[in-house]
Amino acid sequence: MTQWDDGEHLGVGQGVVASSSASAPSVVAAMLRDLEVHPGQSVLEIGTGTGWNAGLLASRLGAENVTTVEVDKALAEAARAALERQGLKAVTVVCGDGFQGHPAGAPYDRIIATCGLHTFPRTWLEQCRPGGVIVVPWGTRFTPTEATVALTVSENGRSATGKFTELVQFMSLRAQRRGMPGYTDYVTAESREKAARGVTALTLEETIAGEWEISRFVLGLLVADCTVIFDEPQDGRRPVWLCSLADDRSWACVLFREDGQESTLYQYGDRRLWDEVEAAYAWWREQGRPGLGRLGLTVDDAGQHLWVESGQRVLPVAW
Ligand SMILES: C[S@@+](CC[C@H](N)C(=O)[O-])C[C@H]1O[C@@H](n2cnc3c(N)ncnc32)[C@H](O)[C@@H]1O
Repeated sequence: MTQWDDGEHLGVGQGVVASSSASAPSVVAAMLRDLEVHPGQSVLEIGTGTGWNAGLLASRLGAENVTTVEVDKALAEAARAALERQGLKAVTVVCGDGFQGHPAGAPYDRIIATCGLHTFPRTWLEQCRPGGVIVVPWGTRFTPTEATVALTVSENGRSATGKFTELVQFMSLRAQRRGMPGYTDYVTAESREKAARGVTALTLEETIAGEWEISRFVLGLLVADCTVIFDEPQDGRRPVWLCSLADDRSWACVLFREDGQESTLYQYGDRRLWDEVEAAYAWWREQGRPGLGRLGLTVDDAGQHLWVESGQRVLPVAW
């Protein structure tokens, strides 16, 4: 971690929100592999951070071919100085909102985001050449884990499509941070009284237990506008909350039994969130439990579409 709380937290301890870091070298290497850069190509990076990834790109492509955008002024200045110390002064370091890209340097052959997003910006499509590649960590609010996706821009430049490659966890693009709902906002005394009681045979392990499990990532693709909150285990049961992030304020709580027997659950509101998880799980099972290489994303004028098997089957959820 190189910054907490957008720079407001000072000192050696941890702050509340980690706002910048140098990414794990294995993740940096995998994303650069997916980007498939070749000498002479121009690259736009979103999320300069320390400047290390921009420095790697500059060493391969020539510093004058690299533009990097950082939203935080102090980080942008520090990265500019670090790149200069390495003889890479010609890298263009821009302080601004990377969601807008950097039109002055467009079109780029490649665009890489090193912050997580769940809404893909049109500007990046407009600023990348047809046939170019855009690598981003894309995820939902269902889990803190994103998956990197390598999108190839179509010949007419109006869409981009590609497969998911690796599960990762990035700091979110500032404007797309996941706000966690407060417990009392959701679970009012009145809603507790009105909640419908039920049971589920599904276990925590096979559905939403692991941040690094493909099942939770996939269920997040199918259960839109929903987040998961884990409570402390009590009396052999682990309460897990599902909260709708839409205005309806629906919630569900499953008291997962540690002995693997059927678990009791409660659901409240217009959405039956655990029913949505069960339907999503059944759909995933029917499809043969596709993993990252079989799942992908297309962005076009109509929005974001998730699919299985190179676009043959579109997931039944609008993003
Ligand atoms: C994981 S760090 C990037 C690591 C960096 N590539 C490196 O080599 O050190 C994510 C960065 O994205 C930046 N960021 C977040 N939202 C942004 C935005 N809207 N535009 C540009 N940068 C943003 C954060 O300030 C943070 O520095």
